Amino acid sequence: MASNHLTGIGSESKQLATWYFTFAIILFGAQLLFGLVAAIQYVMPGFLFELLDFSVARMIHINALVVWMVFAMFGSVYWLLPDETGIETVGIKIGKLLYWVFVAAIVVVVLVYLIVQVGPADEMSIWFIHEGREYIEAPRWADWGIVVVALGFVANLFMTGIKGKQTGIVTVLMADMLAFAGLYLAGMFFTDNISVDQYWWWWVIHLWVEATWEVFVGALAAYALITIIGAKRQVVEMWLWIEVAMLFGSGILGMGHHYFWIGTPEYWWEIGALFSALEPLPLVAMFIHVLYDWGKETGLQMAEGAEGHAIAGHTITNKPAFTWIVLNAFGNFLGAGIWGFFHTLPQVNLYTHGTQFTSAHGHLAFFGAYATILIGMMYLAIQGTNGIKVLKHTKSSIAGIWMIAGGVMGMGIALTIAGYVQVLVSRAQMGATWAGYFDGQSGMWFSQAMDWRLIMGVVTFLGFAFLIKDFLSTGKNPVHER
Ligand code: HEM
Ligand code: HEM
Ligand SMILES: [Fe+2]
Repeated sequence: MASNHLTGIGSESKQLATWYFTFAIILFGAQLLFGLVAAIQYVMPGFLFELLDFSVARMIHINALVVWMVFAMFGSVYWLLPDETGIETVGIKIGKLLYWVFVAAIVVVVLVYLIVQVGPADEMSIWFIHEGREYIEAPRWADWGIVVVALGFVANLFMTGIKGKQTGIVTVLMADMLAFAGLYLAGMFFTDNISVDQYWWWWVIHLWVEATWEVFVGALAAYALITIIGAKRQVVEMWLWIEVAMLFGSGILGMGHHYFWIGTPEYWWEIGALFSALEPLPLVAMFIHVLYDWGKETGLQMAEGAEGHAIAGHTITNKPAFTWIVLNAFGNFLGAGIWGFFHTLPQVNLYTHGTQFTSAHGHLAFFGAYATILIGMMYLAIQGTNGIKVLKHTKSSIAGIWMIAGGVMGMGIALTIAGYVQVLVSRAQMGATWAGYFDGQSGMWFSQAMDWRLIMGVVTFLGFAFLIKDFLSTGKNPVHER
């Protein structure tokens, strides 16, 4: 993504952002490839047997997911920081050094996952192979490396935020990123009681995605709306504070929805049910926020028609980024809000817990809430690095959007159907017995759903190829206004 258009205040920070985005997109590709391997194994269980077993493919699939998103989040902060604060990021040299430390650590971790795969159940394996905690499996040496990198990143953000202009967006990001980095520590300590271990593990997993990451997305959406459609900062930041209050208000105790069946006290049933049921509310607020600003701005521009802005669409300076951000508002609400709400009450979760329904929600939520807006941020960076005034849609950008979003939605529907079969057969009819577990997965509906998930996964991957093609050709494409 090298370009000579990166000049002016903040050019170093923006360059570092593009590095972060580049590695993020490579890992995103890896995530999809290993997802495909795991999906093929559902259909053909012997595929790559003893070479790359399902457990390993799945581990790489979801760890790559988390890591690419963290990379893209760091990249987004380095991208927007100079615009918000009006100065170059403080400590950028160290920031660049830490980037390479981070990349090197991740490459080594993935190679060990692939080549060594498993080890004996002892401390050495935890230190040098992996910790075996879903989503954040990195071995302990890498954990500490990640802590150092994250602290450096937070320090840069704080020093820049304090020295430069303090907007609401930067203030929220400062508090949020501190919490984000701090929570990671909760997933680093091994206890030999599985209930205690899970209890703390959820502090990372749930409090990340349903509190700190959501707040992060609120801040990104605010920045993006100001940048792309010129939304009014006052309005956007007012929404942001409302969202922050609602997200933390419901998300923290909403954690109870993971404490139903892991050996924690039963009062979590009530707490989890109540607060997690409130969680979709901030997502509705975020949804309305984007649509409201969009409507207001395009309305205003129409009213100002005399000044030559008669065509409402003209105000959108980056069409693909804007489309991904609108998709984020929809997808966050659908994947996290609706699919999350479906199974969040203990009475329902008793039947759906750990079925493919959970996987349907996991895919739709991670994609809808995070992948979308982070891809949107990448488009903003592509626009900036290539010095483009108005970035338009191309055939590839549109194909990418339809095939990726359609593919993930298709997978979500297939998984929901598969989950329904498991709920009905394995749980309701056969009472969650060992035999029921297998019966639920041998019927026609289940296996056809797995076929469809694979087909839709291939569609998603082809969409990803179009996205990459669009990224790589933007610099040379004459359709964009410069
Ligand atoms: C963007 C936000 C969200 C993301 C990325 C997300 C992602 C996930 C993932 C990946 C899992 C599976 C975890 C595992 O492997 O065990 C999960 C579980 C769960 N999520 Fe979410 N989620 C989000 C928001 C929500 C919301 C807002 C609700 C409820 C209103 C919710 C309710 C649940 C429940 C009840 C489970 C447990 C499922 C089970 O018992 O098997 N989630 N979530
Ligand atoms: C080529 C497309 C993809 C394919 C074929 C695929 C396939 C899979 C498979 C087979 C699993 C293991 C499910 C299990 O343990 O039963 C999985 C898990 C998961 N995938 Fe994907 N995936 C794809 C894309 C994505 C995307 C785009 C996201 C999010 C942005 C995602 C997020 C997840 C999550 C969060 C889990 C863990 C779910 C859970 O345990 O509940 N995947 N995926
Ligand atoms: Fe949760």
